[in-house]
Order: sequence, then C-alpha cells, then structure tokens
Amino acid sequence: MLRPRTLLSCLLLSASLACAQSQIQSHALSNGIEFSANGTTLRIVALRDDILRVRESHDAPLPEDASWAVLTPSRTAQVAVTPQPDGFETQSLRVSVTPDLRITVSDLEGHILQQDSEPVRWDGTRFRISKEKALDDHFFGLGDKPGPLDRAGQSYVMWNTDSFGWQESTDPIYKSIPFFLEFHEGRALGVLFDNTWRTYFDFGHEMPDTYSFGAPNGPIDYYLMYGPAPKQVVEDYAWLTGPTPLPPLWALGFQQSRYSYETETRLMQVADRLRADHIPADALYLDIDYQVKNRPFTVNTEAFPNFPAMVKKLSDDHFHLVVITDLHIADLPNQGYAPYDSGVAGDEFVKNPDGSNYVGPVWPGPSVFPDFTRQKSRQWWGTLYKQFVADGVAGFWNDMNEPAVFRYPTKTMPDDVQHRIDEPGFTPRTANHLEIHNVYGMENSRATYDGLLALRPDERPFVLTRASYAGGQRYAATWTGDNSSTWNHLRQTVPQILNLGLSGFAFSGADVGGFAGSPSPELLTKWLELAAFQPIDRDHAAKGTRDHEPWVDCPEQEAIRKRYIETRYRLMPYLYSVAEETSRTGLPIDRPLFLEFPNATSDGHPFDLDAGSEFLLGSELLIVPNPSPEEVAPYEVHLPPGTWYDFWTGERIDRRGQASGLDLEKRDDLLAQKPLMLTPRLDTLNAYVRGGSILPMAPVTQSTDVTPQGPLTLRVYPDFATGQSCQGEVYTDDGHSFAYRQGAYLRERFTCSVNADGSLTLRETAHEGSYQPWWKSFHVEVYGWQPHQKTVELASGHAALQQHDGVVSTEIPDTGTNLTVTLR
Ligand code: NOJ
Repeated sequence: MLRPRTLLSCLLLSASLACAQSQIQSHALSNGIEFSANGTTLRIVALRDDILRVRESHDAPLPEDASWAVLTPSRTAQVAVTPQPDGFETQSLRVSVTPDLRITVSDLEGHILQQDSEPVRWDGTRFRISKEKALDDHFFGLGDKPGPLDRAGQSYVMWNTDSFGWQESTDPIYKSIPFFLEFHEGRALGVLFDNTWRTYFDFGHEMPDTYSFGAPNGPIDYYLMYGPAPKQVVEDYAWLTGPTPLPPLWALGFQQSRYSYETETRLMQVADRLRADHIPADALYLDIDYQVKNRPFTVNTEAFPNFPAMVKKLSDDHFHLVVITDLHIADLPNQGYAPYDSGVAGDEFVKNPDGSNYVGPVWPGPSVFPDFTRQKSRQWWGTLYKQFVADGVAGFWNDMNEPAVFRYPTKTMPDDVQHRIDEPGFTPRTANHLEIHNVYGMENSRATYDGLLALRPDERPFVLTRASYAGGQRYAATWTGDNSSTWNHLRQTVPQILNLGLSGFAFSGADVGGFAGSPSPELLTKWLELAAFQPIDRDHAAKGTRDHEPWVDCPEQEAIRKRYIETRYRLMPYLYSVAEETSRTGLPIDRPLFLEFPNATSDGHPFDLDAGSEFLLGSELLIVPNPSPEEVAPYEVHLPPGTWYDFWTGERIDRRGQASGLDLEKRDDLLAQKPLMLTPRLDTLNAYVRGGSILPMAPVTQSTDVTPQGPLTLRVYPDFATGQSCQGEVYTDDGHSFAYRQGAYLRERFTCSVNADGSLTLRETAHEGSYQPWWKSFHVEVYGWQPHQKTVELASGHAALQQHDGVVSTEIPDTGTNLTVTLR
C-alpha cells in the first residue's frame, strides 16, 4: 500500500523563518515502513517483535540484501506490525520517524531506547549515524578491543590488524565485531551494524551527549535488539548470527603451546613432563616451525620424522594435537608444492586489478592468498586438510588471517586487490579488498570448519582463528593475539574475554603468561590461576622468550599452578554444562556481572562498574581477581547481591543487605553491604559460589579423554536469603560427536530446599536423553547447613551423614529416575 504524504518541514534560518516543502513518501509494509525523501530511502522492518532492521541509502536504491554475518532465516524473518502515522508498532516496540528521517525507538510504555540526534550525514559514499546519549549510558561489546569493559567515552575503528605487542590503547587489533550493547536507564538495547568496510564507533568520545557510527562506504544496515534485560539482547544477537557451537570436550582442557616446539623430541618431552608431573592437559600445539620453510600443509620430516606415528602416540597418551595452518600459500610455481599447484589449477587466489594473482610476503616468503569469498575456493581449501585429518590431527589454528602481509605499509593487502564473490545468497561480483578485508579471516575459518566437517562428518571441529567478523563464532574459537607478559595484560584478559563473549565469541582465551616477553614466576602463576576459569586455557609464548610451561621456576610455583589446572578439571562437568547452555542460547561462558545482576546498583548502572575485574563463570561461580594484580596491599571487593560461599573454604559470606538482583526497592540496602577486604596471596585467586546453586564436579583426570573414577560430586549451597532453596544441572555426552543431536546426551536437574524442621530435601530429576554417564552415584556436599540427626533418608532405607570442617556429605546412588532424598 503506497500512502504518499507531503510534509512541510521548516528550517530556521538566522532571524527569519523559511519553510521548504519536501516530498516525503511513506510506504507501509506488512512488517514495517519505507520512507523516501530527497533521494534518501529508509526502510525499517521488524524481524521479530523485539528485533528491528534499519536500512538506508542515498541517491541510490537500497543495496543488495546479503550478509556474511546474519543468518538468512533470521535476516528474512518477518512479523506483522501495526501502522502508525509516523511509523509503526510491534508487540514490544514503537518506531517513529520525523519528516527529516530521524528515527526514535521506544518501548510500549514510552521509554525511549534509541533516538537519532540528527539525520544521517551523507558525504558521497560516506555516512555517519548519530544517536542521543545520556551521560550515564554504558556500552559493551565490539569484540576483542582492548581497554575497559565499558566502552563509554571511547572511540574505535574496525579494521582487522596484525598487532604484535598491542597495548591497552591500541586500536584496531585483530577482529571486527561491529556489535554493541547499550545500557540506557537500566534498559539494554543491542546494535549490530552489518557493514564490512572500515567502520567506526564513537561512544561519546567526541561529544558526551552523542554516540555515532559510520563508514566510508557500504550499506547503512543495522539491527536493533531489545532487552530490556541484557541477557535477552545477547540471546537475540545469537538468534541473528548463530551461537558458538558445542566444542569438543578436550578443547576445554588445558592446552600447551609455544612458538615453537621445533622438533618431535621437544614436543614429546613436553607431553611426557605434563604426564610425569601429573599436570592435567588435553592439547599440544605445533606453531609454524613444524613446516618446511613455513609452507602451510607441509611437515618438516627432519624435525618430525614420524609425524603420523607421533600423532598416534600423543593420542594414545590422551593428547590432542593442534597444528597451525596459515592461509598464505607459498608462491612456488613448478616446484611440486601441491597447495599452490591445485590452487592455481582451480584459480582459487585473489587477484590484482590486472587479473594476475596478488603476491605478498608472509612467513614462507612471496605468497598467494585464497579467495575465501568464493564457495568453491573455500571447498578447495577444506580439501587441503585431508592428510592431517588422516594422520589424526585433532584441531587447526588459522593465524595471520587479517590477512597479515609483511613489508607493505598497511600490513595487509593493497586496497585494490580483487575478490570475486561467488557465494550462495550474493550476486556474483568483484569486490575490492576494502570491502572484504574485515570478513576475510572469518571466511578463512569458515572454510576450515566446513572442510573439517566434510572430512570428518561425525566429529565437532576445533578451529582457532585470530581474525574474524560478526558471526565468526559459528566456525571458530578465538584468542586475543600477541599480548605481552605484563601484569596489565593479565588484567586486560578479563574485559577482553567478557566483551568477546558479549559479542558472540563465547569460546575465547588469551595467551597464558603473555606472548611477547618473559613472565616473572609470580606473573605466570597468577596467569595460570586466572586462565583456569576462562573459556580457553592455552599457555603460549613467542620465540626467544623463556620457557612458560607450568613446571618452570620452583616446585612451589608448579604446585600452585597444578592445583588451579586440576580445579579446572574438577569443574569440567560444570564448565561443559555451561558450554552446552552457550551453544543453545548464546550466553557467554565467562560473564560480566551485569548479565546476571543488571540493576544491582542504586542508580541502575551495571554492577561491573563498581566491581573491578570480577566476572562469573556461568551463572554460579564468581571469580574475583585482584583489580591491580601486581599490588600486595589488601583490596576491597563488592560482591553482587545474595548469599555467597567461598569456593575454596565453603565459608558462607554474611553481610548486610541481602537484596536480590532485580529488586529495585532493595538496591540501597545493597550499597550498605560491607565490602570484603581481601589480602593478595600468590596461591589464591578468590572465587565464590552463588547461594542457591548446586555445582557438579568430578574427580581429577589427566585428560578429558580419561573416564573419571568415582561419583559425581554435587556441591549444594543453599540460599538463605530467598527461601533456602537451590538448583543446578549437569549436561554430558560423548564429548566429541554430534550424536547428542539425536538424543545421545544426559541432562539431570537438581534442586534443594531447607524445610521448616531444619532438614534438607534434595531432588534429582529422571535422566533426560539416552547417554549413560560415567558416574553411578553422587557424592553430595552441603555447605552452610547443620544436620540434627546426621541421617539420610533414601527410598532404600537410611544412610549416615558425615560432617567435616563444616561440610556435610553423603553418597547416594544415581538411579536415573526422579529421586527425593532427605538429609536430617
Ligand atoms: C602470530 C600469532 O599471533 C602467534 O600466536 C604465533 O605464535 C605466531 N604468529 C607464529 O605463528
């Protein structure tokens, strides 16, 4: 239905009032509205009641509707809207547009969620979109950008860059994830600006009352995701771009790497030492020196004389080998280098404007670069993994895929390199590198992921990528690149991993110990402590730095490091259950506090701003690193609302003001809570469990491949603030295949309640799914609760309760059926 309307727009010119007539046409769509005025087309549609898409063009029709980031079913989803004179309404949002095409989005109660502060500013192909910003608005996301968790007051540029030795203020670095989450008056709104060019974001850096984003070219195409809870926004973003898939279990184990373990002998020494010292570990890495002259998909058989046998030996010892496979293919015509020869035969490489293959220097010397914007070239790339897969290599590392190019001033390809897009969902065309640069690394990891699936259809691929774009979490895990061995970089891992997690990349890590430089013994120890609670726990180091493995330095340091790695393995049932939740919902593994406690402070701002470097692993485990990790003086920390238990000692933390997360009335009580004073200790990373949780834990194994011996431990932490109840769950499966999708998994839910007579009832639901777990019984440990009779009532009779150091414990069978047990 076309409803042309003429609106009178008035311009105030110096002292006189002049009115100009501009022809605005509005065109109601079943799922939104389209306006045209003075050469500008603006289309706003609702994909869901809470998710909008905004597209705008100037002096041209709207560009091709295609995306590297957004899943097609989501991008093309529609809901019916109710037209309004100046816009439309969905079941949750109201959109209104002024005659000069400024957009306002509100909730149905009239709270403004986002408002243009001026019409889009166009300058040829360039544009800038500006939005109103309140002084206490907060911004999170944008992937791996360094700096504080809250991005308010900062500005950023998206341009994937090889940034060896980056620092806190370095921007851009490796990834371009143009997604952010805005907090305005306690309400969260997500924005994905789906433009692959060199986009920029200013969150009040230039003007404190305005935030803006724009690009030198490409489409105005952005999505708005309404919360109001931030968790909802994160889940909406996963709906648009896909969640991080369930990783193979081994990838959650400890990973040991170095640039480089240069010989088979050295690699086997590392493997043997890990086992000899009983330091649990699952993965070992080979960096570029295992290859012949750094040529991808080759193995230097002088240094690694028995490569397949070595991989087998490692695997027999429960290690998974990950090898680097950079994307630059050595430019070696007529030398029998198969990746080059087959690539040239299939015309798989990116081009110069004159049609010749672009050649640039990287590790192997002059190199050519696959054109990952072509489905056919991605398929060809995938076939290069055939031999490694046949050899049993478990995982693959896609590095240098910004793409990094040496010697050229921009450290990447020239802007005019040609990519010949030939891709389902896109019109075939040639695009220059400026448009493709930011998606190149993601498409590299996609080619690897899809190639591995084609070669090993029943195994979950593990790909680690350095560069990526929005949606890249579908294909690969990531890490924060070449950080440094400094205390500040240790601290920096927390906001970076949290912002990555908010931006879809739930499965990420930072080089443990720091890549550039050599960590002091204390720094390495503290780093190994912290990384035990981060999604990827990979120790990695640059060439020429001192050894980094957990056993270096003295036995006392090694003992601490080992205890933390063991703790990670003890927590594996919990960690894997959180990873499974991530794969369904998109909620990150490591979470900023505001995801769980969005309104915890009296002015409604996200709690993290007061909480320094704290974060949650899943929703139950709170990790509290020293905000200044190098300092030795005691420091204050505020815990979020509710009851907390010390993870190490089991002690219940009693403070005033036990307000629940969203209880606005009680926020001020919370402020009255006494902070904890913590004294830094080398051997302690403070961690707390949320009252109301049941945490599943396992006996330590040396690898996730090894079946734990004994019962599943259920640590029960009643919440004395809210009804003395608690709950938890455990998820497990075979850890490596896709059989879980056909029902071969196990999920069990647990609850507890403290009864009026002081007894504690524990309930377990019947097994969901057909997978048989490794445990036959539960070792139940109850914290913060006193038994009266020290007995357990089971269907089969009574059993005894033990009490030791304030922890009450017992063992009960896992019958697989609904079970109720009372502890008295
Ligand atoms: C750069 C990567 O960031 C680093 O982790 C790796 O060790 C080197 N390239 C060598 O491959």
